Amino acid sequence: CGIVGYVGRRQAQDVLLSGLEKLEYRGYDSAGVAIFEDGEVRVEKSVGRLAVLGDALIAHPVRGNQGIGHTRWATHGRPSNENAHPHADCSRAFVVVHNGIIENYQTLRDQLLESGHSFASETDTEIVAHLLEEAWTGELFSTVLAVLPNLRGAYALAIMAKDEPGTLIAVRKQSPLVIGLGDGEQFLASDIPALLEYTRDVYILGDGELAVLQSDRVLCYDLAGNPIGKEIFKVTWDAVAAEKGGYEHFMLKEIHEQPKAVRDTLSGRIAEDGSAVTLGELDLSEEVVRSIDRIHIVACGTSYHAGLVGKVAIETLARIPVDVEIASEYRYRNPIVTDRTLILVISQSGETADTLAALRNAKMAGNRVMAITNVVGSSAAREADHVLVTWAGPEISVASTKAYTTQLIALYLFAAYLGQIKGTIASDERAKLMNAILELPLKIDEVLKTAPAIETIARDFSSWDDAFFLGRGLDFAVALEGALKYKEISYIHAEAYPAGELKHGTLALITEGVPVIALVTQDELYEKTVSNIKEVKARDAHVLALAWVGDEEIEKSVDRVLYVPHTLPFLAPVLLVAPLQLLAYYASIARGNDVDKPRNLAKSVTVE
Ligand code: G6P
Repeated sequence: CGIVGYVGRRQAQDVLLSGLEKLEYRGYDSAGVAIFEDGEVRVEKSVGRLAVLGDALIAHPVRGNQGIGHTRWATHGRPSNENAHPHADCSRAFVVVHNGIIENYQTLRDQLLESGHSFASETDTEIVAHLLEEAWTGELFSTVLAVLPNLRGAYALAIMAKDEPGTLIAVRKQSPLVIGLGDGEQFLASDIPALLEYTRDVYILGDGELAVLQSDRVLCYDLAGNPIGKEIFKVTWDAVAAEKGGYEHFMLKEIHEQPKAVRDTLSGRIAEDGSAVTLGELDLSEEVVRSIDRIHIVACGTSYHAGLVGKVAIETLARIPVDVEIASEYRYRNPIVTDRTLILVISQSGETADTLAALRNAKMAGNRVMAITNVVGSSAAREADHVLVTWAGPEISVASTKAYTTQLIALYLFAAYLGQIKGTIASDERAKLMNAILELPLKIDEVLKTAPAIETIARDFSSWDDAFFLGRGLDFAVALEGALKYKEISYIHAEAYPAGELKHGTLALITEGVPVIALVTQDELYEKTVSNIKEVKARDAHVLALAWVGDEEIEKSVDRVLYVPHTLPFLAPVLLVAPLQLLAYYASIARGNDVDKPRNLAKSVTVE
């Protein structure tokens, strides 16, 4: 999750450790460095906190002026010493650190195994070192160029070769990398905070760019090896702002990371021709899938809200009945579970006490448990029989944003996977769905562009002490998440209601001017929801609608509209949630709250 590199005159160990420390906010479960020492490359790694690695290096320092370092957030392979970076090939001639995912790693691994390579880890990264060994031309630059076309996916790499001391190569394909320019020394990092102690002159590597670092110069190339000119970017932010990538808060940064998080979560899970979902990692045989006749989704908070969407996804695509329950309720009930029931826990952290208790109860009773989690090394991931990881990356802000969106994606993929095996979804429907899912990251980007308009609305709404979120069907499921975001960080009373249920009580709370946020993307329910909007308008509420772009009709019934790009109504939650997150964010700002650390709340609730 964090990459650093150094070549120059200082002790590399000190620069690497201090750089990695500055990247700690990104989260990690293991760390390591590789440093040139007397013509050999020494590798030191450890699981857990960076301080463990630091202590080991203080006890047995590595003396050298060039190295690469890494903090890892597990994706392929659990957190362990073997899986920690840097990775090397069999002859230890090449060392590599890597962020991101190499999608075709299984195929490459199989090919390398066949040609006699053996692997020390379960990671996709180690493949790269072995490929370099295979392709070695006698010179690192041309070897790297020869290997890159074989790698599919989004990644950032830093590479050194034992036979070419003095050179460090960095490659960026979608995963961020920056180069820090010094005098007689050069730096490399996955994010700017790691560089600020040493320099404010940086090259921001673009997608598909490669840099060759030597102590006295940095040369940049495209992936075909053609030289490119780079402009120096002068960093003017302070270190704290830099950690947030220039955003004012982690929450805002994480909201804006959603297109990437969704792309990563999809990565390698949809066949290249878009016809099928591949979830081999789940280790769920076709026979077992066919035997499942009920699913209990169990989760807390935002993860529970993702589960509500998951229910619709699974019931629609796989025709398996699904119950969704809050973990603190489920664990103290005596639910009816058979050997054909799948218990599906959803947890960003994989450590929430109530969710884990539900998981453990189910396991004790001999039931089959699956987990959707964002943390590979978490208790939920370790203890469940089947695991589907969301690749949102570390989420720092207490209010969950990108984790929710990637949970939705994981649930859609899982639902389609079940449907594909059970034959409950026609192949042309499936292809249509897959295409629509693949288009979502770009559409979230579009949605995020409406942030300035949302800021104005949020400022107006923030002077009210209540807000109501309405919708039907999937719109209601997202309304629940919108209301939760709103109350957790703006501290404004917010309630989500099924639009049709309003008249049974909540309508009594609607007074002149009160903000009502109405979601109207479920085409089949459109007219019904509009009727409910009229009910609140008749009581002089101020209504903001979230509707499909092109729906001019809605403007007649409401005070303001935020438009989202069109997708299948079934996938609307993925596009609706970002405006609601931003609304909560800007309302919180308007009220002067601590956005990333709301009062009374914790990121991970490990007590009952
Ligand atoms: C806490 C967090 C929420 C989160 C919930 C469940 O309340 O503040 O953002 O949704 O826990 O956490 P989990 O890690 O299990 O998804």
